Amino acid sequence: MAPTAEESPFLLACRRRKVPYTPVWYMRQAGRSLPEYRALRTDRKMVDACTNPDLITEITLQPIRRYDVDAAILFSDIVVPLRAIGLGIDIKPGVGPVTDHPIRSATDVARLRPLVPEDVPYVSKAVSSVVAELGDKPLIGFAGGPFTLASYLVEGGPSKNFELTKSLMYGQPALWADLMSRLADITTGFLQVQVAAGAKAIQLFDSWAGSLSPDDYRASVLPYSRRIFASLSASGVPRIHFGVSTGELLGAMGEAGADVVGVDWRVPLDEAVSRVEPGKALQGNLDPAVLLAPWEVIEQRALQVLERGRTAEGHIFNLGHGVLPDTNPDILARLTELVHTASARLASGSEESSSRASTAGGSGGSSSRASTA
Ligand code: CP3
Repeated sequence: MAPTAEESPFLLACRRRKVPYTPVWYMRQAGRSLPEYRALRTDRKMVDACTNPDLITEITLQPIRRYDVDAAILFSDIVVPLRAIGLGIDIKPGVGPVTDHPIRSATDVARLRPLVPEDVPYVSKAVSSVVAELGDKPLIGFAGGPFTLASYLVEGGPSKNFELTKSLMYGQPALWADLMSRLADITTGFLQVQVAAGAKAIQLFDSWAGSLSPDDYRASVLPYSRRIFASLSASGVPRIHFGVSTGELLGAMGEAGADVVGVDWRVPLDEAVSRVEPGKALQGNLDPAVLLAPWEVIEQRALQVLERGRTAEGHIFNLGHGVLPDTNPDILARLTELVHTASARLASGSEESSSRASTAGGSGGSSSRASTA
């Protein structure tokens, strides 16, 4: 009998169940490293591609045709829900999200209204058609986290130090709370649309939250992320939370309500295990730049990530951030195969040794591989 999406290694690992091999997908697997993506985008703006259901479907499926990855991620962008509620925010090539009308006053914040499904019909349509094509392979839905969205809106574009965002956060706490609360509602609406249409997991990318201290993150961001995650708990879909340079925030990001905590390449996974509370799976964390090195280096580093990932209650292999545009797609195909075969070998090896240990009266380790499905 064919396995259902629920029995897919990706969802099993998110739920910290026993897996036949470590599942793998790549942040930004749909995008500029693929020639077929670049060909589709030559005469189309990014935001237009993100609002066309046929293009969303096609681009989401492109990496699935090339790589034996264990999940697809919806082709979209963190600005999509903001545009959908009427904000004039665009994606400038080589720059990122930009807006001519930054949100800095109470009047600006009042422009942020909740998102309803009718705002994003192209998302519902694309998710349904992707899910129909994928069969038993799960689709991950996503949205930007509240600090990251706030940073683009307040700064008006990408930022290094987030001065304007942080001065609003520190100096005008009531206005900050209103802004974050509205962003949480928009994000909740956007994720619920994706789950209703068939997304089997979601990832909240709070990419730039790592610029905050743990105390400030807990006081000024975590409550809003918690609301977003809580709004999805009844749906039962695994919730992944990721940000860059969040080594000091991994525990708090888990406490916000994530089932899976994404780790960038700066913190080894066995160290990350000790930074999150029990009951969390981890995702990550090969440095994306390693993929530009010779294969021997990639192989050695990937095996190290797999080894360290075995100390987690569940592990989904990924990069520590998105695929870099210059990455050779053939390398990602080869890496996917390596992760599958090497982790299957490690899993069957540990089953043999744990059955030897139980024959000898051992009580088994704390690793997920020892837990039963
Ligand atoms: O992971 C995937 O395959 C799904 C696609 C995806 C995109 N954006 C498509 C995209 C995802 C998950 C995102 C999320 C996103 N967008 C984040 C959070 C994840 C992260 O990278 O930390 C952020 C911060 C953004 C904002 C954004 N959009 C940036 C910084 C850029 C890059 C600007 C540039 O050109 O260098 C974008 C544009 C963007 N989003 C591209 C893609 C494939 C590249 C633009 C293009 O193809 O022209």
